[in-house]
Amino acid sequence: MLIIAHGGAGAKRPTKKALKKLEESLQAGFKILKDGGSALKAVVEAIDILEDSGLFNAGSGGNLQLDGKRRLDASLMEGRTLKAGAVIGLQGFRNPIRAAEVIMDSPHRILTNEGARVIARAHGLKRLPPPDHADLERLRRKIKKGAALDAYKKYFSTVGAVALDKGGNVAAGSSTGGVSTMLPGRVGDTPIIGAGVYADLNTAVSCTGKGEEIIRVALAKEVSMNMKRKGPEAAGEESLKKVLGLGGDAGLIALDSAGRFTIAHTTGAMASGYAREGGIIVRQGFRVIK
Ligand code: GLY
Repeated sequence: MLIIAHGGAGAKRPTKKALKKLEESLQAGFKILKDGGSALKAVVEAIDILEDSGLFNAGSGGNLQLDGKRRLDASLMEGRTLKAGAVIGLQGFRNPIRAAEVIMDSPHRILTNEGARVIARAHGLKRLPPPDHADLERLRRKIKKGAALDAYKKYFSTVGAVALDKGGNVAAGSSTGGVSTMLPGRVGDTPIIGAGVYADLNTAVSCTGKGEEIIRVALAKEVSMNMKRKGPEAAGEESLKKVLGLGGDAGLIALDSAGRFTIAHTTGAMASGYAREGGIIVRQGFRVIK
């Protein structure tokens, strides 16, 4: 049994509060695994806690798009069944990962905007109030300063988790508020199966970073494929170098069904950690790939 979670790759060092919350989410996810719950349930629970905290760029802490709207994305995948679900541009609800979980068992794989909202409402997901005055004021100041669309080089965030349960099954999930400066309607890697997350019988991968280049590399699937011929560390490194080659920045967590794993990022920091029988480790970052 193993669960890994991250609070986003980026240049900023994570706060102590964020690291503590990450530890709490790992604890909750690992408890599910210990109690015999599935990797999928553990991943959803860990991400839900991070979304609720408001400390990360996901859920209630998600970034605003330039029109002042908070549009949230998430995706989820289970390895053994290849079941997948994703949500794009969810507004008014704080746990897009729960919406992705619902969609996974629907006839569809991805729902956007109004369709996503209807599903979230129908399943009684927790509401998220619209951005408040302080949020909008921060955005106004950013726009006034002329925040460039590539200012997001500096900070990404996003949250994610991968897990391996007692039965040897794996799952991966990811949730985000996007990047720090983005046009309304912009979508990154997080809700794109194969880019932001991927899981199959033996591997589970969750990515973070600048979605534009992650999508071009189909990073999560790329890592998973590389893990067929090399260990997670080497597979993660090779794949992240492709993102760097396109001028992007990213981070990832990946594990296999034998319990081998990697936590790696091209950025200076990536709040992340793991929980297994031996205990919980949480750090500001793990392997930096250059
Ligand atoms: N990785 C999050 C995004 O690009 O939206």
